[in-house]
Amino acid sequence: MLKIEQVSKVFYPGTVNEKTALEDINLHVNEGDIITVVGSNGSGKSTLFNLISGTYPVTGGTLVLDGKDVTNAPEYKRAFTIGRIFQDPTKGTAAKMSIEDNMITAYRKGMRGLTISLNNEMRDFFADELKQLSMGLELRLKDNVGLLSGGQRQALTLLMTVISKPKMLLLDEHTAALDPRNAQIVMELTMKFIKDYKLTALMVTHNMQHAIDFGNRLLMMDEGKIILDLDREHKRELTVAKLVQMFKEIKQKEYDNDETLLAP
Ligand SMILES: Nc1ncnc2c1ncn2[C@@H]1O[C@H](COP(=O)(O)OP(=O)(O)O)[C@@H](O)[C@H]1O
Ligand SMILES: [Mg+2]
Repeated sequence: MLKIEQVSKVFYPGTVNEKTALEDINLHVNEGDIITVVGSNGSGKSTLFNLISGTYPVTGGTLVLDGKDVTNAPEYKRAFTIGRIFQDPTKGTAAKMSIEDNMITAYRKGMRGLTISLNNEMRDFFADELKQLSMGLELRLKDNVGLLSGGQRQALTLLMTVISKPKMLLLDEHTAALDPRNAQIVMELTMKFIKDYKLTALMVTHNMQHAIDFGNRLLMMDEGKIILDLDREHKRELTVAKLVQMFKEIKQKEYDNDETLLAP
């Protein structure tokens, strides 16, 4: 599904601000993988996503997505294959547009630009899709998205992303800005959609317990490198304490104990 080979990213090369954010990253993501990604602040998780999505060009290495070399492909082209969700719930939807207008935009993207009008048949389809969120949004098709709560908005973003028919999801701490209850709801919806739509996913989370509980594979990043890549079997026996211990053994230092890392 995705082959990342020898990928590196250096910001401001050759200047006093030169910063190597990623160094020799090798990662093969198989179709159907649900990979959780942990690592302290600044370890390169978001940069990795920015390179996969094409937001930034790589400094070195190659990216093959779905059998095609996309190393130099523009972001908008990769966006047909890759859906991305950010931490900020306001980022994935247009606040001043109604729920139905937001959804038709996502749906058109999934139809690869075909002209589709917003008729009652589409509205019924959207209402049915929205029912899956169990948030009553199916009764609010004409409400502006700006009226929704953060949790509702992130759930809508998730739904819109899947109806735009990507093959792969990049989730960058997409529940971190929500209260624990909504974070749980959005996380459960995420797993349901990944399963129902047979998606491949990479999910960054600061919550180590979530990283252990969800998905079939776990990556830990540190200082621009992938320092751990655990498969399903190794992941099954994992605890937060064991994960922190593994970090300590590899790096010969304590895990950066930012309190959010261990928070529920
Ligand atoms: N656009 C950018 N310009 C310069 N430096 C950046 C940029 N984006 C990220 N970095 C740097 O790259 C490193 C990795 O950042 P990031 O990928 O955001 O880490 P994480 O998501 O794991 O917290 C950090 O040192 C960060 O300051
Ligand atoms: Mg980040």
